[in-house]
Amino acid sequence: MEFLLRPILAIESSCDETSAAVVCGRKVLTNVVASQAEMHRKWGGVVPEAAARMHVEAILPVIEEALAGTDPCEIAGIGVTNRPGLVGSLSIGITAAKGLAKSWNVPMLGVHHLEGHLMSAFADPLPLPEPPMLALIVSGGHTEIVLLQDSGEYQIIGETLDDAAGEAFDKGARLLGLGYPGGYAIQEAAKNGDSKRYPLPRSLPKDPFNFSFSGLKTAMLRLVEREGSAIHKEDAAASLQAAIVDVLAQKAMRAAEQTQVKSMALVGGVAANELLRTRLQSECQRAGLRLNIPPIDLCTDNAGMIGIAASHRFAMGEADDIFMDAVATAPLPGLR
Ligand code: KG4
Ligand code: ZN
Repeated sequence: MEFLLRPILAIESSCDETSAAVVCGRKVLTNVVASQAEMHRKWGGVVPEAAARMHVEAILPVIEEALAGTDPCEIAGIGVTNRPGLVGSLSIGITAAKGLAKSWNVPMLGVHHLEGHLMSAFADPLPLPEPPMLALIVSGGHTEIVLLQDSGEYQIIGETLDDAAGEAFDKGARLLGLGYPGGYAIQEAAKNGDSKRYPLPRSLPKDPFNFSFSGLKTAMLRLVEREGSAIHKEDAAASLQAAIVDVLAQKAMRAAEQTQVKSMALVGGVAANELLRTRLQSECQRAGLRLNIPPIDLCTDNAGMIGIAASHRFAMGEADDIFMDAVATAPLPGLR
């Protein structure tokens, strides 16, 4: 796997984080993230129009901060998330990338957000994984088991049929009144909870690789309705976290066995979850698999991961023209 060994600027604005990074090869030199979580908290989720407006305000200061210490003359290219995501949000990052690419006279490249998450598993100083590699990509919008083949093609081995794992965390937290975003809140509440107190369903037991979290969401709703104010929030948080982590770990390990890979990756915002990290680490150790898990600041949305993906694609001679645009939904592209 090759990477461009010159600094590039990366920009990410697909949802509610405005982020810019300077990346050289697979080394993330700076990675600045301005989160809008505080603003969206009062609505309990992301409001697209408000998100776009916040990106407009944050994008230039965030880029400037990421570039501090780097002479713009050294920047060899710009990578920017252009798909999938909220079109209004994506457009802000893309417009900034186009303007800077034009004025610095450097190439620009649109990056698929999920490829960014996947490539976070290649971040220095993690050992360089050798394909074939199986990645569990778990975020607020996606839950997928993806095989990165020797050929560089991606193969989707399993995916969610409804909600994403991150949504299950977020909705559970909202039902329990623990706030937004919910993953971290559930994790912290669960530390003082009994995960066996409230039995919750493990979804799709007969489907080896696909996920479904809508039944779990309904079960949580029923639990909250049934228990009312008597509910033990810490126990409910621990029970929910265990139900999500169980299915993610079980299906990822089953997929590893089926595809006979030697290396695995755990990436995406939900990969920040401490229980999921230790559970998959110990299962991989037992199965003799190497597991790459990026540090937490490269798990939740950030431009550093976008820079690593762009650095690889630039090394392969790829670039986009000025007509590159935002796309709301798009499949993972193949890699070379
Ligand atoms: O990758 P990401 O930052 O954004 C998307 O691309 O969706 O993922 C955000 C998701 C949210 O659902 C958030 O609750 C979840 O990642 N998350 C966590 C943790 N930190 C963030 N879920 C479980 N445990 C965490 N510690
Ligand atoms: Zn993401």
